[in-house]
Amino acid sequence: MPSAIERQTAEMLAALDAKDPYTRLHSERVGMLMGRFAAAMSLPLPQAKEMTIAGLLHDTGKLDTPNELLEKISQGEPFENDAQKEEMKRHVEAARIAHIDLPATVRLAIRHHHEKWDGSGYPDGLAGTDIPPTARMLAVCDVYDAISAERPQRKALASRKAAAALRKLEGSKLDPKLTEVFIRKVAEPGANISLLERLLRFFSSQRTSK
Ligand SMILES: [Fe+2]
Repeated sequence: MPSAIERQTAEMLAALDAKDPYTRLHSERVGMLMGRFAAAMSLPLPQAKEMTIAGLLHDTGKLDTPNELLEKISQGEPFENDAQKEEMKRHVEAARIAHIDLPATVRLAIRHHHEKWDGSGYPDGLAGTDIPPTARMLAVCDVYDAISAERPQRKALASRKAAAALRKLEGSKLDPKLTEVFIRKVAEPGANISLLERLLRFFSSQRTSK
């Protein structure tokens, strides 16, 4: 049976889907990447689950964002003015998570997923290791998906090209160490396989080596 958190998370994803299917799909991919990232860092399963939930819920504040702005994002178009940018930024504090009994790590990851390593992000302008670690991980997954996802006027970037684009941002916008781990273990071709596949490969390699 799903837990209350899982059920409420599924409800929020359904609400996102009704408002903006692009944001729902983005949220699902980021949730999956967060789970893989946690596994790549050998985090215990309960933490990996929390990270997945943070990825799934990180953009629920966009339920309050005007549709015209969400359309610009899904089309890959730039905003027209500062007022639109400010309106978009509100989604990190407007996340619809008050009614869900989430651990502090998940709340912090969601609030701070647009902080930048060099301090140029929002909402609090935190820099470096002042940014909660789960928020730094979420930022890497969020940016990677934004770079690699297919948009109407752009084909999806191959994971190797997306990893190269990500590498350009490390040190200025993203935590360099975490970005390296992500590129090596999550983003690169061959690393992009599920934990189950890895386990199956491990077991079959055990069999053949005997
Ligand atoms: Fe966001």
